[in-house]
Order: sequence, then structure tokens, then C-alpha cells
Amino acid sequence: MSKFVLVTGGAGYIGSHTVVSLVQNGYTPVIVDDFRNANRIVLKGLESILGKLPLLHEIDVCDQKSLDALFKQYTFEGVIHFAAYKAVGESVSEPLKYYRNNILGLVNVLECMIKNHVNNFVFSSSCTVYGEPQGQKEVTESTPKLLPESPYGYTKWMGEQIIADTFRSAPQLRIMNLRYFNPVGAHESALIGEFPIGRPNNLLPFITQTAIGKQEQLIVFGNNYPTKDGTCVRDFIHVVDLAEAHVRALQYLWKQSAGKLDYLNVGTGKGSTVLELIQAFETKTGLKLNWKFGPRREGDVVEIYANVDSSFKKIAWKAQRTIEDAVMDAWNWEKYLNS
Ligand code: WQD
Repeated sequence: MSKFVLVTGGAGYIGSHTVVSLVQNGYTPVIVDDFRNANRIVLKGLESILGKLPLLHEIDVCDQKSLDALFKQYTFEGVIHFAAYKAVGESVSEPLKYYRNNILGLVNVLECMIKNHVNNFVFSSSCTVYGEPQGQKEVTESTPKLLPESPYGYTKWMGEQIIADTFRSAPQLRIMNLRYFNPVGAHESALIGEFPIGRPNNLLPFITQTAIGKQEQLIVFGNNYPTKDGTCVRDFIHVVDLAEAHVRALQYLWKQSAGKLDYLNVGTGKGSTVLELIQAFETKTGLKLNWKFGPRREGDVVEIYANVDSSFKKIAWKAQRTIEDAVMDAWNWEKYLNS
């Protein structure tokens, strides 16, 4: 069986690691990516890791005609939809860019799936749908979704709503919304990893770029939060664990005897503070990082981490890697990028 799996945004950070996991599990990923938010260096890395270039079509997911033609070219066993912008800050300054790409892209993919009778769908959702958890910081899939803090968060919140409404009209679909926490790290080969375009928004790439000298100094946004050391708490999950969860989610959908709409948290189940991630980086690399405290960042959630009981029960998946593994893999990737 071909076992073709469409991976939109497959040249991106999480997408490229998922392409590796799919191949390692015997599937044939078909990447759709127009490289608007990805760098072609990933292709060299994928070729080295996999021994050959994966199937790739440079298509904009907002171009429904081209996307539909691809559904005629392949018989897809499933679709994993990553293609979307994801910088929280940028989404505030350019909301329409986010709504066009993230919402229209999703609508196109869903329409092509229904039209071409492809039923298995994994959606790249986010813990941002929980907003700032009220009281309980460890969120389960039934923790109420609060209104997001940014247009980016709204595209995920609305994305889940669009998917739920679509499922009501097309109950043959088998859908898994994976709610990521904070993806970090890189492949152990250091041949693929996160490739921030411009100044990194996220914490770990800013740490590694500061350590390598591309950034002057890391600013820790706020040190007076009501947490163990005054800095925010996040659930940092290794990107390779996250990639594996996508394969397990597809396998779970394939096992279903009828249509299904489901949601899973994908995190480690453990919260770590910003300072703990910095300390892990310094301890594992032996480097002293140049950082200082600065003012809080608008829109930051104080503390959130995943309850992962359902992920283990439903898809028999649990994160295997630690934040120490993640900081080391991220550092090796940063050194490779600058070699
Ligand atoms: C983490 C912590 C910052 C940079 C991310 C993604 C979002 C979603 C959820 C998937 C915060 C602090 C950061 C810096 C800092 N993921 N920080 N100095 O905001 O949790 O959101 O995870 O969908 O797409 O963006 O991640 O890495 O930006 O921030 O102090 O230079 O690190 O204040 O407390 P965030 P982040």
C-alpha cells in the first residue's frame, strides 16, 4: 500500500521532523510547502537523514486549484496540516496575513479532503486555545477554551471551530486536533532544526543564537510572576517526541471504525520555568549565557503545562526526551547552522 500522507508545511520546523518520523514508520510523506516560512537547507538535511529527498510540491495551500490537482495525483491515506504562520507578536501587527494564510489554508485543505474522499486528518493546534488557565495550571483536553490573546491564537481557536463544524456536516471524517505546548530542540543528527526567520520570537532559539553570538543578549521577560522563581512556566516538549505523536495520532485514526473528532494535549506533562531552561542550557553546554531580566511581554501566559493522561491512553504515546536533551540538540543544530 502506498501509505501516502500529505504533510502541508512539511519543510517547516515541526513538519520536517514529522516527515522523518513518518518515513521511519513506513509511510510515504508528500510535502506541500511554498517556503514562505521555511528554509531550503532543510531539504539537504532530510536527504542526509532519509537517504533520499522526500516527495515535494511547492504549492501554496491557499491555491485550491493546485492543491486539488495533488489530491488527484496521489491517493492520500491521511493529511497532517502544519502550514500556518505562528509568531504571536507578528500576528498582532499583521492580523490579515495570519487570517488569510492560516484560515483560508485550512478551509482549502478540508474542502479538498472531502471532495477527494480523504478522511484522516491531523491538525496542528495549540495550547494557546486554553489562554491563561484559571486556577489549575495543568490543563486537560476538557479545560475550558478561553478567548485567545492574539490573532495567531484566534486562528487556532477558530481552526478548531471550523473543523468541528465541518465534522458535523461530514461525520465520515476522522480528525485529531493536536494541541502543542512549547516545541523545542532539534533532530539528534543536528541536520534539521528550528530556522527562525529574522529575530527569534521563541525562547530556546534566542538562547542558542545568543550563545553563538548572533544575538547580543537574552532578555528574560519578567521576574516577578507568582511562580517558583518569578519567571513564566511552560511545558517544553522535544520536537522529535512531538513528531512521533503525529504518527501515533494517524495510526489511532486509521484504527477507528467510524468518523471521529478528538483532541489531545501534546506536552511532557511537566512545567519548567524560563530560568530552568536557561540553567539546563548552561549546565549541558558548560557555557555562561549573557542574559538579564527585562519587563514582562504583553500577552504572556504566566503558567501552563499539559495533563497528558489522554495522550498516553488513546495513542499510547508519551514524551521520551527531557529539556536537557532539547537544549543540547538545539545547541548542536545552532553550531551546525553556523559552521
Ligand atoms: C516562552 C517563555 C516568554 C523569548 C509558543 C509559541 C506558540 C505556541 C505556544 C504552538 C515566555 C519567555 C521568550 C525571549 C523570554 N506554540 N521569553 N525571552 O509565548 O509560550 O508561545 O508556544 O503553537 O506558537 O509561540 O513561547 O518561546 O515565545 O516564550 O523571556 O527572548 O519564554 O516571556 O514566558 P510562547 P515563547
